[in-house]
Amino acid sequence: MPRGSVSRRGFLTGLGLTGLGAAAAGTAGAASLASCSSGEDDRNAGQTVPFRGDHQAGVTTAQQEHLHIVAFNVLTDDRDELRDMLATWTTMAERMTRGEQTTDGGALTGTDTDANTDPDGTLNLVPEDTGEAVDLSAGRLTVTVGYGPSLFDGRFGLQDRRPAELETLPKFPGDQLVPDLCDGDIVIQACSDDPQVAVHAVRNLTRAGSGVVEVRWSQLGYGAASRTTKEGDTPRNLFGFKDGTRNITADETDDINNMVWVSADRPDSAGPGGWMTGGTYMCVRRIRMLLEVWDRQILDDQQHTFARYKGSGAPIGAHDEFDDLPFDLYLGTGGPAIPRDSHVYLAHPDQNNGQRMLRRAYNFIEGSDSMGHLSGGLFFIAYVAAPSVNFTPVQMKLAHEDKMNEYVRYESKAVFACPPGLAEGSSANWGTALFGG
Ligand code: HEM
Repeated sequence: MPRGSVSRRGFLTGLGLTGLGAAAAGTAGAASLASCSSGEDDRNAGQTVPFRGDHQAGVTTAQQEHLHIVAFNVLTDDRDELRDMLATWTTMAERMTRGEQTTDGGALTGTDTDANTDPDGTLNLVPEDTGEAVDLSAGRLTVTVGYGPSLFDGRFGLQDRRPAELETLPKFPGDQLVPDLCDGDIVIQACSDDPQVAVHAVRNLTRAGSGVVEVRWSQLGYGAASRTTKEGDTPRNLFGFKDGTRNITADETDDINNMVWVSADRPDSAGPGGWMTGGTYMCVRRIRMLLEVWDRQILDDQQHTFARYKGSGAPIGAHDEFDDLPFDLYLGTGGPAIPRDSHVYLAHPDQNNGQRMLRRAYNFIEGSDSMGHLSGGLFFIAYVAAPSVNFTPVQMKLAHEDKMNEYVRYESKAVFACPPGLAEGSSANWGTALFGG
């Protein structure tokens, strides 16, 4: 092995983060929080979202401005190695959400050491943290984990623990899927108001997982394109329309409990042992938007697509953004104010047995493609209590009838089971519910 490099196992051992050491390191992290400098305290004041609780953060949390999401293939077939990595990840993620580096040693050990003497021998160590977030606040970082259907295929003895609701999403009519951008064994969603903090989180977890997992796909998103609380203005997507107006918001407790969190009385989606109770399912679609085509459409056609005014976001025929959709209103032209092929008509709960989903979408632009067209769109994430009830039928209806399909290309699909949150003070980690203790 070349000088200065470390094996994955050696790296984790060096951090004191393998196996049980990881739980202990969690406590050490708490201690270091107590002793962290007042500079760190000031920087992070109001900038942290609790990592622990009944549910994972990053679902109903007020949507941050930036996303880095990554899906992994698991490489190892060693169950213990996977468990160790999940324990390590939990410790690192919790520390980062507090605005700390991934380990006590962090990025800077040795950087101020005299190169001639190097009394601690730190110059020959690989820094434990990559360092780009050292002076930054947590930026309300949340790190959310989920497990794909393929993780339950038998490699780790998890066949019997696959929740019935965790089925690979079908290919929907019109999908132009890029296989390498679909599915995955494990997902990590990092959201922060600072893009560098979100990137730092994914980068460091990926690094710690080296040899156990490999990146399957990842995506950066800038600019929230939905809202999960009622505060502030509704953001706009790259078509220029307000997006998230009728999203479920965190204060809608009944709908959140019925349609986002898996409840204990839903044995079909809780799986054997009910380990998903308090969890949720993440449904993912990368949707390329054909922006040059869209930008040539007249305003009337654009508004017809969403049945909303582009300026105010109000439904056509209504006045205010949050007015109900006037389904029974007919305009002078004879047609319904809310066209029956419009995105909003088709996605509305009235057309879907009352079902809703919690959307957490982000705009993305990745420069231009080889034709000079903007390579961008919407990275769509929805959280639901049961994909077969709250998501797949709605997506199927949109795939068949949505006028918006003229202007978009669905490039990916994925679904993940996100376990419930970790209780305050417990030694459980991200693998505990999955593996059953
Ligand atoms: C590029 C892709 C998409 C764009 C640009 C888009 C845009 C919009 C806009 C502008 C609205 C109206 C404002 C609002 O209530 O949020 C809306 C509503 C909605 N969209 Fe989408 N959307 C996209 C993809 C999807 C997908 C893939 C789904 C689900 C499979 C979905 C589900 C919904 C739902 C449930 C509503 C709320 C309907 C209501 O209750 O009135 N959207 N979308």
